[in-house]
Amino acid sequence: MLQVIARVPAKINPVLSVGPKRPDGFHDLATVFHAVSLYDEVRAAPGDGVSLTLSGPYAVGVPADDSNLAVRAAHALAAHAGVPTQVTLSVHKEIPVAAGLAGGSADAAGTLRACARLWQLELPDAELAAVAASLGSDVPFALMAGTAEGTGRGERLRAIPVGARLHWVLAVADGELSTPAVYARLDELRQDRCVASPSVGDDMPAALAAGDPQAVGRALRNDLQEAAVSLRPALADTLRTGADLGALGGIVSGSGPTCVFLARDGAHAADLATGMAASGTCAEALVVHGPAA
Ligand code: C5P
Repeated sequence: MLQVIARVPAKINPVLSVGPKRPDGFHDLATVFHAVSLYDEVRAAPGDGVSLTLSGPYAVGVPADDSNLAVRAAHALAAHAGVPTQVTLSVHKEIPVAAGLAGGSADAAGTLRACARLWQLELPDAELAAVAASLGSDVPFALMAGTAEGTGRGERLRAIPVGARLHWVLAVADGELSTPAVYARLDELRQDRCVASPSVGDDMPAALAAGDPQAVGRALRNDLQEAAVSLRPALADTLRTGADLGALGGIVSGSGPTCVFLARDGAHAADLATGMAASGTCAEALVVHGPAA
């Protein structure tokens, strides 16, 4: 039977600059998205109507009904193209859920790619990206992968060059953090502060282009970190442990609770992951590299 398989990477945000809250409830961002080598896999095969089965280490507790972003992606693409939503989807989840790694967005992006192929839609990339943006702020980047600067809600993307492979450790936390709750906490924390327009700045793009891990480590920045740590104070211990173990830099990934640490090279990343796991300040430590295609 015909089956289309799409593998889609997790993302981290080496820079996440968050502007004031907009009238539509979203925040203007200036961010660097960086795809890393941890993948969900979406399989699409012909079916009557739409069905979804989930597998893998992070499938537990994820709804397989119409609320799942993969199912919503299939419906959105079918509506856009004027075809019936007929697909049997299976998603293998290696990316932790509600962890700041855009796993749900990866599943949506994989579903868009796989269904477009299965239904032989031959849509231009710009149309697929517009459907992706209607599903969530991180879905357009998940379609593109690599490394990109994102503005607007995060949906306006421009690829940026990276001069060398970077080695990271993902310190996965027990439990989840809700993205809207983290943004709401940031707004509370900022109540009396004047909030500037978001900006990626020059340091990170220059460090990435040069492939200089020390400089990338120094330029890591996440405006959501204070809010994530305030909702989950134990993350401060995780971040301190990574620094004590010699990471070149460490931040909360996206809205958390995963923390991400940069290593000098692959061997250093393996040592760092062993140390993080042994410290008991995270549930699991995964070695990845980026940019992932
Ligand atoms: O777009 P997405 O569904 O991922 O957004 C989830 C939530 O995160 C939004 O409802 C909003 O509360 C918050 N968000 C935001 N500004 C962004 C992206 C997300 O406020 N640029």
